[in-house]
Amino acid sequence: MSIQPVSRPVTVPEFRAAKSRGTKLAVVTAYDYTSARLCDEAGADAVLVGDSLGMVVQGHPTSLPVTLKEMIYHTACVMRGIRRALVVVDMPFLSYQVSVRQAVRNAGRVLKETGAHAVKLEGGVRMERTVKACVDAGIPVMGHVGLTPQSVHLLGGFKVQRDAQTILADAAAVEEAGAFAVVVESVPADLGAKVTATMTIPTIGIGAGPSCDGQVLVYHDLLGLFPDFKPKFAKRYADLGTAVKTAIETYCQEVRDGTFPAAEHTFR
Ligand code: KIV
Repeated sequence: MSIQPVSRPVTVPEFRAAKSRGTKLAVVTAYDYTSARLCDEAGADAVLVGDSLGMVVQGHPTSLPVTLKEMIYHTACVMRGIRRALVVVDMPFLSYQVSVRQAVRNAGRVLKETGAHAVKLEGGVRMERTVKACVDAGIPVMGHVGLTPQSVHLLGGFKVQRDAQTILADAAAVEEAGAFAVVVESVPADLGAKVTATMTIPTIGIGAGPSCDGQVLVYHDLLGLFPDFKPKFAKRYADLGTAVKTAIETYCQEVRDGTFPAAEHTFR
């Protein structure tokens, strides 16, 4: 069951309150108008403009090269396709880590220039002051703990995070700072359950087991569109990569053998 009828927009307080109502939250990433519109019409509760676009759209090996300007561009495209879903925007690497002042300024710029509803920041205890400053400025913040991909080099790769004490402390810190939800990425399922049980805000899991209050998947993983690798936690609900390739192969063949364009595609 979705958190409300499809016609009314999802608000930050409603998203947060889904936990106390026991309603699971479905979140998916999107990076452009067409994908955002499909996610919105399919009933996603929130669309995340993830900095994963660095990998699945731009072809980088990590999200580190993504800039604030690029996030703003992609979010503006996404917003044109949204009627109902809450839109959360990833703050890219080095747009919020240098100082609290820089973080508030850049997070505010994202909301001002795109019309999105909230931002997401990676980090727990070390980001507590930053999350609080953004919330104090009226900017809703989603936290992100466990595997934080912007720290991939510090962590030694995209690995499952097993330090329960650190992850519980990080999640508690972002909740205390005023975040309305928190992404928990790549942790064992029992730890995902423990974090979820100790929080009053929704946990949105990605590789954090079934007990989280919601789940998020990357659009390209969910649809089988990303050829480089498939994370263990990602379920492919379609194999659009193969379907797209077959369609384009057929088109190329029809152009070469002269069967496209046919009479119905031709002006008289
Ligand atoms: O960048 C992203 O898409 C994310 C999700 C995977 C949680 O942060």
